Formats: sequence, structure tokens, C-alpha cells
Amino acid sequence: MEVALPEKLVSALRAVRSVGVITGAGISAESGIPTYRGKGGIYDDPEEGDRTIEALSAPTMRADPDRTWRAIGKIASAAGDAQPNAGHLALVEMERRVERFTLLTQNVDGLHRRAGSRNVIDIHGDTFNLLCTACAWRGPLADPRGIERAPRCPKCRAVVRPDVVLFGEMLPVDKLARLQAEFFQNPQDVVISVGTSAMFPYIVQPVLIAAQAGRLTIEINPDETDISGFVHYHLRQPAGVALPAIAAALSH
Ligand code: OAD
Repeated sequence: MEVALPEKLVSALRAVRSVGVITGAGISAESGIPTYRGKGGIYDDPEEGDRTIEALSAPTMRADPDRTWRAIGKIASAAGDAQPNAGHLALVEMERRVERFTLLTQNVDGLHRRAGSRNVIDIHGDTFNLLCTACAWRGPLADPRGIERAPRCPKCRAVVRPDVVLFGEMLPVDKLARLQAEFFQNPQDVVISVGTSAMFPYIVQPVLIAAQAGRLTIEINPDETDISGFVHYHLRQPAGVALPAIAAALSH
């Protein structure tokens, strides 16, 4: 499916020197990774149902890490088998084409990193990076398939956890500071929200602030969200279709 962008949008994109992008699970849907909400989503899990959020919470990680790890193992297995798609690759191309590029992602699947994006703020972390709950050990998650029990630290045998934000935990302050510096203090010429239901204030605010500062704002999502009403362009296209068209419209 080829997307024809509105002519006015194409000419506005030609003048763009800086790009901010915010991604959610929808960008990885075309890689075969389930989104969180909606039918077949992670929160529609046949075993945990709507208790998945409880399984992925900090109190459960402390009290019953095996349960948290079973939920994490499912998410990581889907991601581990997946490959970056045309949407991820278009963002790599955009980063090459403009003077300043920042990618804020809520995804923990590591696909932006594997595709080759460089200036990434993975605000919710990355399931493939592990850390020990007791000592300073850090390492990769080698094989997420079939996890039934919480893995143990190779150094001190304590439970290890993925470097992700679980429910009930604060966002990492260093990443929040980068988000503020890159999106709030100096909004990019265009801010694009892709494949997210835009549920969290720190996801909505960069788009709002950019719009208030007179910057161009775009949403790419087949469905309507809370930000659809105030972006300049809501492209109801899959990310893998709309993002390559936007990347191509940016001048070299
Ligand atoms: P959601 O599952 O809430 O939303 C995914 C969005 O992607 C929906 O609005 C879909 O319409 C859209 N979508 C689906 N396929 C698409 C495609 N091919 N192209 C473009 N858009 C598409 O996922 P997130 O918004 O990422 O947090 O969820 C945000 C956070 O809520 C997650 O990071 C997770 C969750 O709780 C934590 O775990 C802390």
C-alpha cells in the first residue's frame, strides 16, 4: 500500500531540520509483536487476562518474581523472534537525513536499537537488558523462550530483573531529563506520534508543547486517540506505510 501524503504536508516536511518521534507498540505490530490494548493484545492474555498489569508490577516482582518473569518471557519471546519492519527502518533513514533527531519510545522490544536508530530514549526500558536486584551485575537476556522461573544472577544468585519500568515504579530520572531537554526546552520542527494509544501524560505533552510552540505535529495511527484532535495531520495509515513516505519527503 502506497500512501500519498497531502501536498501541503510534503512541502512543509522539505523545510524540516529537526525531527522528534514518539513510538508505541503499534510500530512493532507489523513485525508481528502484539500491542498492549485491544483484542489479542498483551492485556488480553489467556492465562492472566486483565491481571497482566498486576503480574508486571513492582510488588509482584518482589513477592512472586516467577510470575512476573512468565509475563515478561512472553513479551520478550515475541520480540526476540521479530525483525525490524519498514517503519523502524524509515526512522533510521530520517535520523540520517536531518540535523537533529530524537526518538522517544515506550517499547521494550529493542527493535529500534536493532534497526540502527541511535538517539533513542527508551523511557520504559528494554526487556533484553537485565540487572541484578542485589548486586551491580548487568547482562543481556540471551533466550527468553519458555521462561517459567526468575533467572538468577551469575555472580550472587539473587533474582535478576529486566531493566524496564514495572507498574508502580518511577520513570528513570536521567531519561526524563533527556526527554525534557530534547522535546520541551527546544521542540523539534516536527513531532510525530506513531502507533501509540497516547495514554500517558509524558507521551501527550511533547506533542502538545510542540503544537503550542508552532511546530508541525503528525499522528500515525489507523485509530483515533486523545491526541488525534489537536495534531495538524492524523494519517490513518500503518506505520510501515506512512513513515517511509515521510522519510522520503525530508530533504537530504
Ligand atoms: P497500545 O497497545 O495501548 O496502543 C497501540 C496503538 O497502536 C493503538 O492505538 C493502535 O491503534 C495502534 N496501531 C496498531 N497497529 C498499528 C500500525 N500498524 N501502525 C500504526 N499504529 C498502529 O500500546 P502503547 O500505546 O505503546 O507500558 O502502550 C503504552 C504503554 O502502555 C506501554 O509501553 C506499556 C503499556 O502499559 C508499560 O508497560 C509501562
